[in-house]
Amino acid sequence: MAKKVVLILLTVFLCTLLYAEDKEVKTSVIQLPKPDLKGTMSVEEAIQNRRTRRSYADTQITQKQLSQLLWASQGITGEMKRISLKLRSVPSAGGLYPLKVYVAIREKAVTGIEAGIYLYEPEFNLIKQVVSGDKSAELTKATDQSWVGNAPLCFIITAEPKITMQKYWHRSMPYIYMEAGHLGQNLQLQGEALKMALCLDGWFHDEQIIELLNLSYYEIPIYIISAGMKPAQETDPF
Ligand SMILES: Cc1cc2nc3c(=O)[nH]c(=O)nc-3n(C[C@H](O)[C@H](O)[C@H](O)COP(=O)(O)O)c2cc1C
Repeated sequence: MAKKVVLILLTVFLCTLLYAEDKEVKTSVIQLPKPDLKGTMSVEEAIQNRRTRRSYADTQITQKQLSQLLWASQGITGEMKRISLKLRSVPSAGGLYPLKVYVAIREKAVTGIEAGIYLYEPEFNLIKQVVSGDKSAELTKATDQSWVGNAPLCFIITAEPKITMQKYWHRSMPYIYMEAGHLGQNLQLQGEALKMALCLDGWFHDEQIIELLNLSYYEIPIYIISAGMKPAQETDPF
């Protein structure tokens, strides 16, 4: 009997702890401005000028520019009315969309947005804070690359493989990596059109990114893309 009482009390205590921790999670939500559907640079120019750039200006990025980059990476661009499927800026096998886009924002990097890591919600064109604070040091360590932590923005692309696996079985992982490649190219071309500098970073320590984002067993990190405005003087070796 005494054992039972102790067990019940312990369970109640643990539940209280979990609830308290849950309540501390910050849920700052930012509605982004609508992205533009007309730019000042042609697709041909963006392809011609696209380069990997690893140095970034201190210039603040606007919410409009951030919105434009996120839209290029996974934004809603249409609908298959027959099945009410929202279509995105990047193709996806079976229209299943297993990719998620997080963006780590440094202190004062984007006008009116506090430092933290945010999850992009394409359907509502908003970002939701999932981690608070400037995570530059953690990003540099997780990638062994200083420019990733130094970048005002750092996009972290993850995937939920089970979404694609329900239809494509053993072909799912290649499909997911192909889709991440499409996303990376879109993002870099959009960045080029906005006169921004971007670097696609495939090298990182998975477990550190998993810990940073507190990812569940069902979600894996795929790609990291650092970004900022181009510096006045290019320092990258071309
Ligand atoms: C899948 C992939 C992974 C990459 N990983 C890194 C990386 O971890 N760090 C880095 O500095 N550049 C990385 N790059 C960028 C390449 O180094 C770069 O694309 C290459 O040097 C060609 O230069 P360009 O993009 O300017 O044409 C990666 C590119 C791809 C496509």
